[in-house]
Amino acid sequence: MEEKLQAIKEEALEQLKQAESLDRLNEIRVSFLGKKGQLTALLKSMKDVAPEDRPAFGQMVNNTRTQIEEVLEETKKRLEKAALDERLKTEVLDVTLPAKKSLIGHRHPNTIAREEVERIFIGMGYEVVEGPEVEYDLYNFEKLNIPANHPAKDEQDTFYINKEIVLRTQTSPVQARIMEQGKLPIRVIAPGRVFRSDEVDATHSPSFHQIEGLVVDKNITFADLKGTLEQFARELFGENTRTKFRPHHFPFTEPSAEVDVSCFKCGGKGCRFCKGSGWIEILGCGMVHPHVFEMCGIDPKEYTGFAFGVGLERIALLKYEIDDMRLLYENDVRFLKQF
Ligand code: DAH
Repeated sequence: MEEKLQAIKEEALEQLKQAESLDRLNEIRVSFLGKKGQLTALLKSMKDVAPEDRPAFGQMVNNTRTQIEEVLEETKKRLEKAALDERLKTEVLDVTLPAKKSLIGHRHPNTIAREEVERIFIGMGYEVVEGPEVEYDLYNFEKLNIPANHPAKDEQDTFYINKEIVLRTQTSPVQARIMEQGKLPIRVIAPGRVFRSDEVDATHSPSFHQIEGLVVDKNITFADLKGTLEQFARELFGENTRTKFRPHHFPFTEPSAEVDVSCFKCGGKGCRFCKGSGWIEILGCGMVHPHVFEMCGIDPKEYTGFAFGVGLERIALLKYEIDDMRLLYENDVRFLKQF
């Protein structure tokens, strides 16, 4: 037994001497000291030792275990130091290298334009509100005086979730939602994302943004609408901007108009930017249709109001003279950084 113990000890120390890695060291530890290791096996054969010799034998096994453990620990330190030395040799840190510049993002032209529009209307006492992007057909069309089979429903190529639910094609449904809440007077703008199944090109995208405006109070007239949007255009495009209201048709306003602003590039003389006309179309607007008031629980004999809808991308493209809408969606920092 004693010889066996001695042999195990010598074998263990020899193997430790030759160990070249921490992994190998662990293997050695397991094979000698582990639960199924050689020393443990020897302890289990204690029953073959004469009872009077057992305490001395046990003592010897424990001494051997301690010795192996000590050498194991020393070897571990040696190997760890060697590994560290090796790392220090290979990992050179050049403290004279210039520091890495961290990239800073940039606000998107859409965001800049939206915040600018919001700033202007907040300045006029408006509140900024939001509505859902996934919307009921009822709000997107029905309550805006666009019944089933109305041609306007085809004009706005709609993504249907099911028969009753759509991706909103316009921010106008927020008008109906706000009016239904019944808190009067109303003076809000509602920016947000809208969806139409359009092909992507320089001026179209299946997902874009609008900003809706709605004012409802007693004695609101078309003159209020004109004054408000004239002021808006001057703040957005410059003090000398003139506006032109062209009669138009929207189902939810009566009368309705489209608004053009004098070209801020040529001042109205006509240039490439305004395609020679001197005018640039920027939004749709009108007086809230009495029918819409009724469907949203407001008495049209007591209240009047106006509404407008602006395409946000259109404003961003115009203001920053970007000639392809697709650039707005690529999010190339080299492009975004210019605004
Ligand atoms: N919702 C219209 C569209 O997407 C834009 C619009 C026109 C909104 C007139 C209005 C409005 O509030 O009064 O084409």
